[in-house]
Amino acid sequence: MAKVKITVNGKELEVEAGKNLVDAAEENGFEIPHYCYHPGLSIAGQCRMCYVEQEGNPKLQVACNMKCSDGLKVKTDTPKVTDAVKWSLEFHLINHPIDCPICDQAGECGLQEYYMKHGKYKSEMHEEKELKPKVVDIGDQVVLDKERCILCSRCVRFTQEISKTSELGIFSRGDRSVIGTVNDSPLTGNYQTNVVDICPVGALTSKDFRFEQRVWFLDETQSICSGCSKGCNVDVHHKKGKHIYRLKPRYNEQVNSYWMCDKGRVTYKDSNFDRRLSNAKLGGVDLPHAEAIAAWAADLKVLIATERTEEIGVWITPHQTNEELVSIFETFATQLKTNKFYSESVETLVQKDEAVDGFLLRSDPYPNSRGFLKTSKEKKIKLQSIEDLIKALEKETISHLVIICPEGERQFPHMSRISQMVKPSQFVVILTPQNAAIEMFPSALSLPTLSHYEKAGTMINHAEISQSLEAGFQMFKESRSIQQTMKDLLEAQAKRAESRERMAN
Ligand code: SF4
Ligand code: SF4
Ligand code: FES
Repeated sequence: MAKVKITVNGKELEVEAGKNLVDAAEENGFEIPHYCYHPGLSIAGQCRMCYVEQEGNPKLQVACNMKCSDGLKVKTDTPKVTDAVKWSLEFHLINHPIDCPICDQAGECGLQEYYMKHGKYKSEMHEEKELKPKVVDIGDQVVLDKERCILCSRCVRFTQEISKTSELGIFSRGDRSVIGTVNDSPLTGNYQTNVVDICPVGALTSKDFRFEQRVWFLDETQSICSGCSKGCNVDVHHKKGKHIYRLKPRYNEQVNSYWMCDKGRVTYKDSNFDRRLSNAKLGGVDLPHAEAIAAWAADLKVLIATERTEEIGVWITPHQTNEELVSIFETFATQLKTNKFYSESVETLVQKDEAVDGFLLRSDPYPNSRGFLKTSKEKKIKLQSIEDLIKALEKETISHLVIICPEGERQFPHMSRISQMVKPSQFVVILTPQNAAIEMFPSALSLPTLSHYEKAGTMINHAEISQSLEAGFQMFKESRSIQQTMKDLLEAQAKRAESRERMAN
């Protein structure tokens, strides 16, 4: 990308040619206030907050409509600029209800933020505020407060330019102008909550998140959405790792730009505290992790001693990270020497994978099918089908079944089928983050694992892009990563072998 030299407040900067001045200034430490400008949308020039003085131009200019070119010289801090910004903000607040204490946007609101820096403080407005409808239900996901809206038109442009659903518009004139939907029909489609993300004030709020938590109590961890093979980049907003409240899209030009779908937004619910297995269980009774591993190692000991480890069957899914898959394959194929690995037909999912709605969502519902195929190929693992597993359970060629179960209910039909085939003599181990999975196998040994949004590792998306998940928190102290569980199992196994040798000598 060609570079050009511009000058902001007397400082010469080298920036990308054609870059929007708001972004170029911000990247170099100069904040230009803005509401209507959003880098993912067209320019509206509507809010008049981004005024700058440009050398050679007698009138103030809006920075959001300026592209960086060689020799551009602007000032963002002259008395003329600060006065104009102050008055723009004052006009935005004329009819604002100032109901911050009950507003979900408090703590991340553009009005609050700029008021502290550019507020007029002593208002000269004496007229009564124009009252407008509040708590307007405009769709499955979104609630509108027309009084809080500053008519920046970001949401309108999103539905016109990105989701292409065009439901939103600005209606009426002057101080009666309001945001609304055409014929009061609701927002549609799978991308509604993006308008909440981009609304710079508390006018559009998410039904799922509103009144759930104050944003200043939330921490953020970077992850990848688990909802499909697109692998949208997300920030997980959680309270001290104990409760996840929402997912927000994280910018990645190559994958999801600034957006994500509503289906993906709720994937955090399967990772949340109320659906989680918090303790290891054997036959429904809680036991410490070390004892659970010892019970597992004891059952494997019999198979190892009688050279019957090929009776171990392992059910896996493309929900695991590449690192988890490697540790599973190394433990069961390399160390324990079984070749019985089963899964859904991931190859078919990958072959048929396509964009479902012409935007982000894809038909393959797993985040790491490509990683799953790549890792199994590298480790020379031959994957068999659910039908092969059912047959093996019926014929009792499997006596020790390991089910590595992700969160989410998509796997449940398979699990239910498998549970009906399992015989009392077959030892079942479930590695799962979720409570519901173990109800199908009441006598099994169940070990809690980390949920998708607690994991570190890599996954490969539909476009063969390898992406990282960042481990930021652990909801339950008894849950372990798959790698740790495999390590603990092998160590318990080695200890048993050692003590056997000592006894033999
Ligand atoms: S609802 Fe929000 S995004 Fe839409 S115009 Fe009003 S302030 Fe802007
Ligand atoms: S498109 Fe797929 S990866 Fe992106 S948010 Fe939706 S479900 Fe998640
Ligand atoms: S950000 Fe420039 S006019 Fe709104």
